[in-house]
Parts: sequence; structure tokens; C-alpha cells
Amino acid sequence: MLDFKEELAKLVSSKFDSLKKEDILELIEIPPQEDMGDYALPCFKLAKLFRKAPNLIAEEITESIGNNQYFASINNVGAYVNFFVNREVMARTVLEEILDKKEEYGSANLGKGQNVVIDYSSPNIAKPFHVGHLRSTVIGNSLYKIYEFLGYNCIGINHLGDWGTQFGKMIAAYKKWGNDEEIRQEPIQTLLKLYVKFHEEAEKNPELENEGREWFKRLEDGDQEAERLWKWFVDLSLQEFNKIYDLLKIKFDYNTGESFYNDKMEEVVRLLKEKKLLKKSQGAYVVDLEDYDMPPCLILKSDGATLYPTRDITAAIYRKKTFNFVKALYVTDYSQSLHFAQWMKVIELMGYDWADQLEHIPFGRVSSEEGALQTRKGNVILLKDLLNKSIEKVRKIIEENNPELDNKDEVAKKVGIGAVIFNDLSNSKIKDIVFNWDRMLSFDGETGPYVQYTHARATSVLEKATYRVEKIKDYSLLTEEEAVNMIKLLQQFPEIVIKAMERNEPSFITRHIIDIAQAFNKFYHEYPILVDDREVQQARLLLVYGVKTVLKTGLALLGIEAPDKM
Ligand code: ARG
Repeated sequence: MLDFKEELAKLVSSKFDSLKKEDILELIEIPPQEDMGDYALPCFKLAKLFRKAPNLIAEEITESIGNNQYFASINNVGAYVNFFVNREVMARTVLEEILDKKEEYGSANLGKGQNVVIDYSSPNIAKPFHVGHLRSTVIGNSLYKIYEFLGYNCIGINHLGDWGTQFGKMIAAYKKWGNDEEIRQEPIQTLLKLYVKFHEEAEKNPELENEGREWFKRLEDGDQEAERLWKWFVDLSLQEFNKIYDLLKIKFDYNTGESFYNDKMEEVVRLLKEKKLLKKSQGAYVVDLEDYDMPPCLILKSDGATLYPTRDITAAIYRKKTFNFVKALYVTDYSQSLHFAQWMKVIELMGYDWADQLEHIPFGRVSSEEGALQTRKGNVILLKDLLNKSIEKVRKIIEENNPELDNKDEVAKKVGIGAVIFNDLSNSKIKDIVFNWDRMLSFDGETGPYVQYTHARATSVLEKATYRVEKIKDYSLLTEEEAVNMIKLLQQFPEIVIKAMERNEPSFITRHIIDIAQAFNKFYHEYPILVDDREVQQARLLLVYGVKTVLKTGLALLGIEAPDKM
């Protein structure tokens, strides 16, 4: 597509031998105010090269560029050259490109032939899937869609927490207080209760901790009873988790949890030894990271049991071998930042030159108004409840406002779930979230339902149109301020998607489609679309089509569906 920034850089560099296109591209800014143009070229950094004051350079550049097809006017103010894009050329290029590419508008093949592994969701077996896991799930899923849209081949892995000492504790607790019937009825709640009880009792009776450790050791050694119980807990939990994945319509390419690496760790421990990285410390084996200002990375406990980092190191080596990724992303909250920094450092120390392809994508923590959400204390908000509450709420609103709607349940699902996902992806991901039911389920203002509603409104206008959506001749029909603002936003969309990928930040897209929805609603209130004049109607329809299409794509990249009616 025609890229005005690129044209600007070409134009300027063609006039001055000493200026390269790439250097100009680096300097171009988007001015904060409309009257300063669509693009600006600040000349401060060119002073040395030109041996002139920046304002004189700006003058010279402005004068050297005469009339041209892409910019309606070019002027200079102080040290800046301001470029005003030709509105009609912009409208034509953007809208015809959308018409042509449809929902592929904004896609690219930047990542052609390259694999990206995304490790996300990854809840823990026998523990509730809480709002913290929701964040990992929706951020990871959105990143998957964004990378895929840009041409990468994505591999989504659910690194289930299905291994570790906690399973020893769980088995010990089950042996003491477990009730099969109760577990079958309410698996996760009951297992969680057992786990909470284990910790309460262990405070009074520390001997219990040993029992837990022993059970885990038996599990690692392949003891039949331990394995049977573990498998049972895993199956029950997965059944529960799948209900949530089904609601969210999320699938993974691999559901390989931590236990998948059991038979692969020995080799890694051997390698660590061979490379002289393992050090004995209080009976345990660690990799010393003092030189890097980090606590040691724990590899084996004194009883030989492996740990969370051991499994992550092993998994990374396995994934590199299996998928030969150019990037491997790990989506968890920032409380695990040290863990990732430690084991990724170990990968580097092992001499793997791909260590810098590993990237932890940390996000903010979710707390309830009463404080942190801790699994052990049982103070958790269940994701299933949240999603169902949201769906129910939408169902009621539909019943009040649009009782004639077809497929009410389907629509309520799409909108209710969309609201939760959108809320989660609204802010920069590193920000902490204080969990609040009302805010999470609010549909006013900058929310998913607002964007979905705008999409449905645009769809319905197109359905009622007298004429077809097609290329038009006269783009001067789309030069009202409200139309221009909208076209500009549509034009920026492909760039925004790339930015979202580069920074692993879906909220860029969330915010951009809010802007598009708001710009559209402004236009819609100001200008009737289905007017009698054929040319005017078709011009406006083309704009509506652009908005509808980009909103749909934007929502899809967040993992949200866009119903045609709601
Ligand atoms: N199961 C972990 C948790 O719930 C998250 C795992 C993240 N992925 C990884 N490769 N460590 O905290």
C-alpha cells in the first residue's frame, strides 16, 4: 500500500544527495496537533551535515519540494517541515486497499518461514483457573493471532503445571482426608481444600511436609499408586480447564505440561555437570549466578527431585530442537520475572547462542479488593464464574433491548466473553489490576461491547444500503473532517499491528479500535449514510465498509468475535 512516510522520505532524499531515505525515515514525527500537518520532519539533527541553523535547513527543504501528488501542502515552521497529506489520495489508497484485501487488510508476511513458540495459559493441575491465568491465556492467545497475521508460524503451548512437590502434598492430603465422591462432584474445589488443609496442618505438624516430599519422590520414581492418583487429578482438572477453553474458543497446538519433560531432564542435568555449571550447595545442586547479581538457579533438591527451573531449561532445549524457533515467548505475571531471568541465564551459560531468542512477557498481577489472590488460602475468583456472569448479564440486556434477536444465546456468549477479554487487554499489560466485578462487566465507554456494537451498527447500515459497496470515482466526497479522521485511523491500522507485535502489546490494538469506533460514531451522528444521492451514498458506504472490516479484524486479533447483529 502507498505509505506516505515512505513517499515523504523518498521525496526529500531525492532532492539532497547527502540525505539517505533511511535517515529521513528515522527522523519523521507525527505532530501532536492537526494544524502542524500529518507528518513533520524536525531538522535539528541535520545541522551538522548542512552546516546551517535548523530553521534555515527546514526552509531550504520546504522550498526544494514543489507540487507533488502525495502532499497537498508543505510548509515550514521554525526548524520543522510540516507535510499535509493529500486527503483524496489517502482516502483512495486506504479504502481501496481494504476493499481489495478485506479482513486481510493489515496482514503481512514479515515472519514468513519463521517459527514463534508461545507458552501461555499454563494453569496448575488441581488448582483453580483464576483471573491471573485468564490474563496469560488472553494475552498469549492474542499474541498468537497477531504474529500469525504478520506471517509467522506460531506454536502455542500450554505448559500445564502438572509436576512438582505440590503433587506430593496433594497425594499425602488425599490419603489422610480425601473423599472420592466429593472429589468427583467438585474436583478442583475439593482438591484445593485438601491442599489448603495440608498447609494449615503442616504449620502445626511440620512432619507432614516430609510426607509430602516423600510422596513426590515416589511419584518421580514411578510408584504405581502415586502415579494413578496423579493421573486422576490431572484428568479431572483438564476436564474443568477445557470448559473454560471451550468458552473462550481457545485451542493449543500442544498441551505438554511440565511432566512431559520428566524423561528429558536427566540428559540436561548431565550436560550441566559436563559443562561444570552445577555446584553443590547445602546438599542441593544449583547453578551459581552471583556474577549476574541473581540468586542461584536451583536444579536438583537434596533428595534428587527436580524443580520448576529444571523443567523450564529442559523444555526450552527441547523446543529449540523440535521447532527451531526464532522467538520463544513466555507469558506469565511479573512475579516470575526472576525465575525466567535465572534459567534463561543458565541457557546462555550452557553456550546456546539462541538464548537471546527466549523472552519473558511479564504482565501485571490481579488482586481482589481484599488483597492478593492466593491459591493456598483459597481466596480466588473463579474464571468460570466470571465468564458466566458476564454472559448472563448480556443475555438480560438483549432481552430488554432486542428481544426479537435471533440466536440470543450465541450472541450473549460472544459479547459477554468479548467484554471480559477486551477489559483484560485494554491497558498496557504490565499494569496491575484490582479486580472489580462492576468494572469488569461494564459495557459503557471504552469496552468490548461498545466496539462490537459499532461493528454491528456498521454491518446493518451496509445491509440496508440501496447501492453496492465498490470503488468510487470522486474521493473529494470523503474530505469532511470526521471522515478524514477516520480514514487516518484506518490507514494507521497496519502499523499499529506491527507495533503490537514488536512490543508484544495487544493493548495497542485494543486502544486503536476504540478510537476507530469513536470516530465512526461521530461521523455517523453527523452525516446520514443512506442518502438518495448515489455518489454520496456509495462514498459513505465505502467508509462504513472500511470501519466494519477493520473493527472485525482488530477484534479477531484480540481473540474476540464480532456478531453481525446484537
Ligand atoms: N504454571 C505456572 C503458573 O501457574 C506458569 C507456567 C508458565 N510457563 C513456564 N514455562 N514456566 O504460575
